[in-house]
Amino acid sequence: MQPLEHLAQEHRLIAKAVPITKSFRDEIEAGGPIRPRRYWWLIDFWSTYADIVHHSKEEQFLFPVIVEHGGTTEFEETIDKLVEEHMYLLAYIAELRRFARPMFTGDPSARERVISCLDKYTDLIEPHIKLEDTELFPAASQLLSKAEMDELAKEFKAIDTRTGTQVQSYYSSLLDKLKEK
Ligand SMILES: [Fe+2]
Ligand SMILES: [Fe+2]
Repeated sequence: MQPLEHLAQEHRLIAKAVPITKSFRDEIEAGGPIRPRRYWWLIDFWSTYADIVHHSKEEQFLFPVIVEHGGTTEFEETIDKLVEEHMYLLAYIAELRRFARPMFTGDPSARERVISCLDKYTDLIEPHIKLEDTELFPAASQLLSKAEMDELAKEFKAIDTRTGTQVQSYYSSLLDKLKEK
């Protein structure tokens, strides 16, 4: 598969997880009950799929090859912003893990922190993928050679294989299970 299309397809799965995350957040605000197993599935989607499977392709392979092109300052600034946002997203995931136990044992302030983290996550991820889809990926498709695209495709496939050959279908099914409630 063409590597930018590979990333765009992952964005579609990520975009599908956003309304699921928002309704999960509303369930928590309404007082639950939330099953720990479902909470874990949601965290697993954002930490494994969004961060390890998707962001690593961008950070380890796509962004460096764009910068190596002697990209303009504009690209460098965009990439700095995107990497910074990946770090914030990861920090929200850490908080969602940290406050899970106190939330499940009834601490109201932990519940508020979880709700606030879910809000911050969804508020940031939507414009983040939009910026990549509408600005960075089209620019990269003009900038990169066929050989560079082929190399990216190879590395992306290797990441999917390392995280499990069924990684794409596994996380797609996980979202379906989360939707069922
Ligand atoms: Fe990204
Ligand atoms: Fe992305």
